[in-house]
Formats: sequence, C-alpha cells, structure tokens
Amino acid sequence: MTQPAPAPAPTPDGDPWWISNYRGTGYLERYGSHDGATTRRDVAFLAARLALQTDHTILDLCCAFARHTAELTRRGYTHTTGVDLSQDLLDHAAATAAADGERINLLHADVRGLPLDDGCADAVLLLFNSFGFLDTTDEDLGVLREAFRVLRPGGRMAMDHFTPHPDTTGMGTRTVRGDHAETTQQVTWDPATRRLNRHTTTAYDDGTTDTSHSSVRLYTPAELTELLHAAGFVVDEQFGGYDARPLTADSSRHLVTAHRP
Ligand SMILES: C[S@@+](CC[C@H](N)C(=O)[O-])C[C@H]1O[C@@H](n2cnc3c(N)ncnc32)[C@H](O)[C@@H]1O
Repeated sequence: MTQPAPAPAPTPDGDPWWISNYRGTGYLERYGSHDGATTRRDVAFLAARLALQTDHTILDLCCAFARHTAELTRRGYTHTTGVDLSQDLLDHAAATAAADGERINLLHADVRGLPLDDGCADAVLLLFNSFGFLDTTDEDLGVLREAFRVLRPGGRMAMDHFTPHPDTTGMGTRTVRGDHAETTQQVTWDPATRRLNRHTTTAYDDGTTDTSHSSVRLYTPAELTELLHAAGFVVDEQFGGYDARPLTADSSRHLVTAHRP
C-alpha cells in the first residue's frame, strides 16, 4: 500500500478544500463550458464498455453539474442519479435540466458514506478527476470501498483521472475565460506528497474576485489498480482516454473499468 500523504492546509473558512472549492459558481466558470460533444463521447464509450442497460441503476458519483447524468438520462438510462456534496452545483444541474425541459435525478450526499443500500446499483461512475481528494490514501480507499458496497455483485464501475504525467504536473500557470469571469490557476506538483496543488483566482466581470485552492493526490495506474483490488474490485479494462487509446507509460489520463465479483 502507498504511504499516506500529509494533510493539505485547511481553507480560510475551515472546511476542507473539496467542500469550499465547489461552493458558488467558480467551478462553473472554470469547467461549465465543457462541450456537449465531449460528454456525449464519454457516455457512448462508457455505455458500451460497462454494458449499460436502460433499466440499470447508475450512480454518477461526484457529478458536479451532472453533465454525464443528464446525457445518460437523455439516452434513456432514466434510473441514473447524480450524487454530489455541492448543493450549488446540484442546484445548477437541476435548473439547467429544467430549462431544457428535462428532469434528472440528483442526490446531495457524501461519497464517503452514501445514504444508499448495499448492492443497490448496477453501475457506478467516478469521472473527470474526482478521486484523490482526501488527506490520506486510506481515506481515498474508503471512497472505493463505498462504491464497492453500493454495487451489486457483477455491477461495474468506471473511473477517469489524471496520472502524474509531466503534462499535468508541469502545467504551470494558465488563464481561462468563462462566461462571467476570468480564472487563473497556478498549478504546482509536490513530488514528496505526490499531490497536485492548485491556487485559483477567479476575477468576475462585476469586479469581485475569489480565491480557492485544491490539492489532489495523483495515483499512477499501478497504484490505483492496487487500491481497486484492496477495495475488492476486479479490474476489467484500462485505457489512456475515451477514444480507447491504450494505456501506456506516457498516458496523461487513466480510464479504468472494474466490477464487483
Ligand atoms: C472534478 S469535479 C467532478 C466532475 C464531474 N464528475 C464531471 O465529469 O463533470 C469533483 C466533484 O466532486 C464533488 N465532491 C468532492 N468531495 C465530495 C464528497 N466527499 N462527496 C460527494 N461529492 C464530492 C465536488 O463537489 C465536485 O462537484
């Protein structure tokens, strides 16, 4: 088992970064403009690789503004539920769906302890860098154990996240323009803790600014495979991306599917 990393600094409001970072609209300014084509590609790939059926109960854990939940629901996987701890992002997801004349299932809950029965789900998704948030490897493993608990035997899961590749760890400083703000992120890599630390400043067009930080433990594919096994999963397939490219030593992304035996 890999060594636990030291705890990242607390945020000024006293909450861990993975709560405070997703309050308000800052995340939407950074990532809300995900193009629909990317999400449709992700969902088509996942539906095929996980053999999803329209009557399956699917949990989109850490769904943020629920782009995958919405696309799955649109495709007839109506027993999909987006789960997230950010009420602001869930509210945005519900409002967006309503504005499009759609309805999606959403659940405000903590992935460390889901208010769901053992074995209730046919498939679990944990997508787009939604892992490695917690202070220790054992706590991260707890999230995988919880995903395992809610899956029925034979149920399948998919995760997709950054690897500690130089394209990610060496990202440096970059600025992106959102709908209502400009966001600058300074990204640094701490090789001692294996954490990717981001300091983010969001300058809104109305003249206000806010700052936040995040600190994500990046796992190599071998480390993540070890954690999945420790949680009880059998790993099925591994890719370097949603275009089914093979996972190699040079992959900057790791997409893995597994099942509960
Ligand atoms: C990188 S975003 C997810 C992106 C989303 N899956 C997508 O593909 O667009 C990470 C999400 O995890 C949520 N989150 C963080 N910690 C959580 C926890 N303990 N329980 C539930 N959600 C959590 C955050 O609120 C945030 O929306």
